[in-house]
Parts: sequence; structure tokens; C-alpha cells
Amino acid sequence: MINLHEINKNEHLPQITPEEISDEKVIEEIWQLKEELKDQVLILGHHYQQDEVIQFTDFTGDSLALAKKAKTSDIPYVIFCGVHFMAETADMLTKKKQKIILPDLMAGCSMADMATGDEIEQCWETLKQHTEEKIIPITYINCTAELKAFVGKNDGSICTSSNARKIIEWGLERGEKLLFFPDQHLGRNTCFDLGISLDEMVVYNPHLVNGGLTPEQIKKAKIILWHGFCSVHQGFNASQIKNIKASSPETIVIVHPECNFETVQAADLNGSTSYIIDTIEKAPAGSRFAVGTEINLVNRLAAKYTDKKIISLAPYQCLCTTMYRIRPRWLLNSFRGIKSNRPINVIEVDQDTTKYAMKALNNMLEI
Ligand code: 13P
Ligand code: SF4
Repeated sequence: MINLHEINKNEHLPQITPEEISDEKVIEEIWQLKEELKDQVLILGHHYQQDEVIQFTDFTGDSLALAKKAKTSDIPYVIFCGVHFMAETADMLTKKKQKIILPDLMAGCSMADMATGDEIEQCWETLKQHTEEKIIPITYINCTAELKAFVGKNDGSICTSSNARKIIEWGLERGEKLLFFPDQHLGRNTCFDLGISLDEMVVYNPHLVNGGLTPEQIKKAKIILWHGFCSVHQGFNASQIKNIKASSPETIVIVHPECNFETVQAADLNGSTSYIIDTIEKAPAGSRFAVGTEINLVNRLAAKYTDKKIISLAPYQCLCTTMYRIRPRWLLNSFRGIKSNRPINVIEVDQDTTKYAMKALNNMLEI
């Protein structure tokens, strides 16, 4: 969840309004400042960022690649063009003297907001009351640092959509049950892929008494999935795949594993944003793809690979509105702050949270 306390704590430079500076001038000034501060600033961007922002990034990647890039960088300022949990992760992975800047503090993630620290503690207590089996907590990287710390304290690991399979296997070697949060779909899709049947999985809903589960269901379940989802990937469904296949059977449907189970089952391929990019890049000219992921990435792929036919799986635009909050204007504000030695929107995770969350992050990076 976005920490409003942190928002208030940060010193804001005056907002850059269109009256003060036109869109063209914003772009010009960012290029100038990027050149002038090139030894001091690294710009990271997630694949879902809009092209207007991507043009300025030094490195673009999926959640795992961005986390690894942040870890190996030495540059004093990292402007993170992504969402809040990614900037928090970058802060924990970088050195103390480095500062991570999120150009718009309201760029959160609706999925990450679906699990709070108190809710997870309550869930853990409920599960422990009903089973003596060892439970390993696994969290998708799309969550707050507080939740990552909970996982570290309880000997679990973080995962991303690129490594969920490996991490779940690791968890199952260490415990009889897994608690997977906050994305039920990534958890269900990956566990099913690993041969775990749907009957062995239950969904814990934090808004219901006992998570909506009976003591028997908790005892019997191997995988306890959190009732969370991505509002963007919810926009894709199996009937869209049926329609595309009816009119164009040769079209390959490729979706992100944050899509629901029926959609992933009906698709030809599924994987992280990097997997989607690599698959399309390697496909022969003339291939046709219907892609179930965020629209900025789909449009970018369609514009880049003009020898292939690339469309969105959904007939409407599935846009991540929080990723979209990062605009060149706010990027310029970030640069101006750095230049005047008054960096704004600095994301800092406290030491105690970092200590435990790093345990879970290191587990992921080592597995
Ligand atoms: P990846 O880039 O890791 O596939 O994740 C997608 C996503 O939803 C990021 O929030
Ligand atoms: Fe969160 Fe979904 Fe946006 Fe990714 S695409 S940042 S999971 S809301």
C-alpha cells in the first residue's frame, strides 16, 4: 500500500504545469538533464511504461530483471519508472548511499494493495490454529516491503512471474503447505503446471471469517492462495480466445500468468513479460499473435515487429492506470530535484523491514 505518511514527508518541488512549460519543452529539458547528469542518474523502466517514458530509460525489463539491475548498479540516483513496490524493492537491494526516486508517488499497484500486513498476520494465525503441518509463505514481488519482511521472518521466499515455478518447487521441498499471496492466479496457474490438482488448492479471502474456509479445508489443502488479482489482467478471458481462434486458428495466443486459470488453459503459451517479448522476437516473419498483457507493451511489440501481426487479446484496452501515472513531466520534476540537490519522492524502506525482507529477496535471488 502506498504510504501516505511518506508522501507527506517528501518535499515537493512546484508542479510543472503546461502553462509553465509545454510538452515539447519538457522532453527537451529531460534530454538535456539526462546528458548533464549521466554519471549520477540511472533510469529504470518496466515494460508497461508508455513509450514517452521508455525513450528515456537506460534499462527496460520485467520485475526480476529490474530488481537485478538495481542490485548491481552503483549510480547515486535511480529514477524508477514503474510502481511503488518495485521502487521499494530497488531501495532494499541498492546501497545505502543510493537514492531511489519514484516520479509519481501515487503510482501503486492495485494487486499489492489487496494484502495488508495485518491481514497476512491474521491469516497466518488462522492457518496455524487449524494445522500443525509446516507452511512456507511465498509472496509475489507485487506486494509491500512489509509483506516481504513477513515472508523473510517466516523462512519463505519472494517470486516473480519469471521464477514462480522454481520458487514454488523450493517451497514444497521445505514444507507440506504453501501460503501464496497476493495473486491467486499466478499461484494457481503455476502450481497446476507443476502437477498440483485444483482440489488441493483453496482460496483464503481476508474479508471473510476464517478466510471463508472450514478447518477441514485448511487441513486438506496443499496450497492456500490469497484472494488477490490484477485488475488489468482480469480483462482477458477464455471466450476472447475462442473468438480469435474461430476467425484465425493460426494466431498464437500468449498471455501473462496473472490472467485467470481458464484463460491460461485456453491460451497456447503463457509467461512473464520478458517471456512474451522473447517469444515474439524469435517467431518467424508472418507469425500472428494475440497477446494477453498490458496494452503499452502490446502496442510497442506491434510497432517493433512489423513483419508479424500482433494484436491485443482483448477488444478493449487493458491499461495499467497506475503504471501510466509516470509521465515525462514528473520525470522532469525528478531530474530538477536531483539537479538542485533536493531530490523528491525518494522511496526509503526502514532498516528493520529491510533486514527481514532482504532475507526473502536473497532466497529468491539464490534459488
Ligand atoms: P513481470 O514484468 O514480472 O512479468 O510482471 C508484470 C507485472 O504485472 C508487474 O507488475
Ligand atoms: Fe499491478 Fe496489475 Fe499494474 Fe502489474 S499490471 S502493476 S499487477 S495492477
